[in-house]
Amino acid sequence: MRKKYMAGNWKMNLLPSTAQDLVESLAVVAPKHTQVIYFPQAPFLGCLQQWNLGKAQFGAQNISSQSSGAFTGETSAELVRALGGQFTLLGHSERRTLFGETSAQLQDKIVAAWKHQLLPILCIGETLEEREDERHFEVIKNQLMESLHGLLPISADLILAYEPVWAIGTGKTASVEQAVEVHRFIRSVLNEMQVGLGETTSILYGGSVNAGNAKELFSQSDIDGGLVGGASLKIEDFRTIIQLQDECLHA
Ligand code: PGA
Repeated sequence: MRKKYMAGNWKMNLLPSTAQDLVESLAVVAPKHTQVIYFPQAPFLGCLQQWNLGKAQFGAQNISSQSSGAFTGETSAELVRALGGQFTLLGHSERRTLFGETSAQLQDKIVAAWKHQLLPILCIGETLEEREDERHFEVIKNQLMESLHGLLPISADLILAYEPVWAIGTGKTASVEQAVEVHRFIRSVLNEMQVGLGETTSILYGGSVNAGNAKELFSQSDIDGGLVGGASLKIEDFRTIIQLQDECLHA
């Protein structure tokens, strides 16, 4: 069975005191089948190593493609790992649109993550305009090809997150049908790239996940968990989302 994840992307929110309260309150949830992951702002990654996270793990919202050197403001994969991080998000749509990250650059970041034993979560997804023009499959395929083609054959672990840009922070979730359709499409593209890759790769859904829609989304066998922004900042909401996903996996 593919591994299941529930990731909280805190973005540029939370200070250490509120974050500690959140993770320590949720440490007791201990889901049986779901790996919980927190993505704090980089400067306090090291704090999470000191706190009681229960079985949860944590990682960086972004890493540099470079190992070390004169790259002011960047964070290396090696440092994230040294501070106890085990994951990194890559290519979140906010990084792509606000900071100009390209799919080609992400290939180098995946390599940097693997080199320092971080498990990358590569985010892909179409904008509203691209969906309305019915170009979403083409866009997603291009994002996958540009970031992964040079890495084939892939033997290290990689997680994907499908996040339709129009659903991020908008309160507008993709319908279950839309999400499942794209997840299946991603699996078929991965299988075209490398036999079996589509079946072994965990694919998360992200975009306005909340306590009300989590059950429907995460009971789908093609959806291996979530990448949650706004709702991961609220203890009760994130607790409910984790529990609902874990219950779906029991059923
Ligand atoms: P959201 O963010 O849950 O607030 O829509 C998701 C994300 O950006 O990863």
